Amino acid sequence: MPRVVVTRPIPAAALELLAKHAELWVSAEDRPLGVAELHEAVRGADAVVTLLHDRVDDAFLNAAGAALRVVANVAVGVDNVDVEACRARGVIATNTPGVLTDATADLALALILMVTRRLGEGERLLRRGERWSWSMTFHLGRGLGGKTLGVVGLGQIGTATARRCRALGMEVAYAGRRRAPADVERELEARFLPVEELLAVSDVVSLHCPLTPETRHLVDGAALRSMKPSAFLVNTTRGPVVDEGALVEALRAGVIAGAGLDVFEHEPDVHPGLLELENVVLLPHLGSATVETREAMAVLAARNVVAVLAGEAPPTPVT
Ligand code: DGY
Repeated sequence: MPRVVVTRPIPAAALELLAKHAELWVSAEDRPLGVAELHEAVRGADAVVTLLHDRVDDAFLNAAGAALRVVANVAVGVDNVDVEACRARGVIATNTPGVLTDATADLALALILMVTRRLGEGERLLRRGERWSWSMTFHLGRGLGGKTLGVVGLGQIGTATARRCRALGMEVAYAGRRRAPADVERELEARFLPVEELLAVSDVVSLHCPLTPETRHLVDGAALRSMKPSAFLVNTTRGPVVDEGALVEALRAGVIAGAGLDVFEHEPDVHPGLLELENVVLLPHLGSATVETREAMAVLAARNVVAVLAGEAPPTPVT
């Protein structure tokens, strides 16, 4: 039987599938393995199921050795995987697109509503036991109807987020490496803009691009200053797409109106400046965190492993 290493506990349905085809080693502890532990664990593996905090680089691949055929990342993002290094050794890298689209778009929408309607602030006010009374001017947020959603990266999750925002009466514009298919543009009545222009015209900017060397700090101080002072930034992709220090400064100075963040530059740490601000909503990377989605992600990763071990093409290779 081939040896499959799973670096952290994953849903039972996926483990059951893997166990039918391989000898399994599953980390007993529900925490990220340290680098030395990870390298020790993967030694001699034919396949490794990784999570987004596991770094798959040359050192990992050296540690695993020549038997390794597939690295199945349980995430759509693959910024933790050196895909070129895998390719150079003939190791197939796979990810889990599609199955987390709705959960992540739901969460992006939740952040958009939370930050524009100041819902976190309202909840904190009640929990502090503060006196309050309904008035015409009490705790006003901003409406979304007729406003522009600027999507950076109109892939599956960006598109699903835009659909939800269209249902709220928003206009959609987008920027990205390439133009979306014509039917998607038509359905969303979406305008394709250069990213600088997108930032300048949007009322809500929602980030959905992958983290790559090109998108690291895409939203820096200058980008934030090019946004409207009334605009909001929402990030459900990867923290390093935003320069967190610059964002703290911008939020403090009123350069933009607020931010909704599910991801952080140095996860799991959160910039201390963000914790002090009222105009930011902070969530602990919950985009795909539903029971159904996590099971679907793990099962898809397991199907990728099983296919490669059987000499077949995996359902969702990283291309
Ligand atoms: C992903 O799949 O990349 C998500 O960030 C996991 O929630």
